[in-house]
Amino acid sequence: MDDTLESRFPILGKWTLAPSIARFRIRAPFVARKHKAGNFVIVRLDETGERIPLTVVESDPIEGSITLIVQAVGKTTKALCAMQVGEALSDVVGPLGNPTPVERHGAVACVGGGVGTAELFPIACALRDAGNTVHAIVGARTRDLIVLEQEMRECSATLAVTTDDGSYGRKGLVTDALTSLLDEHPEIAVVYAIGPLVMMRAVADLAAKRGVKTIVSLNTIMIDGTGMCGGCRVTIDGKTKFACVDGPEFEAAGVDFDELIARNRSYLDMERIADERCSCKLAAASGERSR
Ligand SMILES: Cc1cc2nc3c(=O)[nH]c(=O)nc-3n(C[C@H](O)[C@H](O)[C@H](O)COP(=O)(O)OP(=O)(O)OC[C@H]3O[C@@H](n4cnc5c(N)ncnc54)[C@H](O)[C@@H]3O)c2cc1C
Ligand code: FES
Repeated sequence: MDDTLESRFPILGKWTLAPSIARFRIRAPFVARKHKAGNFVIVRLDETGERIPLTVVESDPIEGSITLIVQAVGKTTKALCAMQVGEALSDVVGPLGNPTPVERHGAVACVGGGVGTAELFPIACALRDAGNTVHAIVGARTRDLIVLEQEMRECSATLAVTTDDGSYGRKGLVTDALTSLLDEHPEIAVVYAIGPLVMMRAVADLAAKRGVKTIVSLNTIMIDGTGMCGGCRVTIDGKTKFACVDGPEFEAAGVDFDELIARNRSYLDMERIADERCSCKLAAASGERSR
């Protein structure tokens, strides 16, 4: 197999957004030409690596590049965040998933939690470009974990920032800010929420009490991204769906969140072991580099 840098997916740029969050510009001309808001890619760092789904945050069809924002949570995302400009990914497959159906609703709320804000950003821009008034809320546990605040501000009519610990913006959860937002803007017709599953469920429950529907993007376990492996199956309105080909966005009211949260925890023990082994290898490699 041709394994030259040209046949792979080189990292053209890397920026550290927070201690555990990095932004990458990666050469992937085919994906850059075809990408629409809501699409994701499945990447592999090397030929034996695991396949992980990541949302395409932006694309530049002229340069042939895409932007990914990655939070280091386990084995593969930690190894990716340790990669540098000039290194290359072995595979970038996509664009996958259905693009967000961008309709004109009037006013919408876009609620991002943690790195979910990176996934929400292209959707918020597309909704704004379609003539919607976008009211955004971005939240995180602490100030360091807020991403794309400025970019979200630029595509929104209003933006509220929350941190759980009060280190920045309003102290509290995104649902606290959403309560105020829905009071101030009863014209909001739809809420888009992307973040941890428990956050999306809480946002959807709150909006439903006000008679407002919520669209969520489901972060399921994924393997092939083509509807063949069944890894991403979710129950929606009592029926089995596959997040990779039927989603990843769904109306929250139909999602069986309890089942999905339990499924996402199925491999925790194995993920922990893989993470520990990978952290040891990364520490050894950085020790050798500094010698
Ligand atoms: C459609 C889609 C788009 C995504 N877009 C992005 C993105 O733009 N940026 C980004 O940083 N992440 C994104 N994710 C999540 C990302 O795929 C996972 O964080 C990654 O697969 C974890 O791999 P790992 O080997 O590093 O960690 P693992 O060892 O697999 O997991 C480590 C920890 O992360 C949790 N975890 C694993 N998979 C997920 C998941 N899918 N969602 C939430 N937590 C998970 C595990 O429960 C565990 O606690 C997306 C997921 C999906 C399904
Ligand atoms: S990831 Fe395999 S069916 Fe969706």
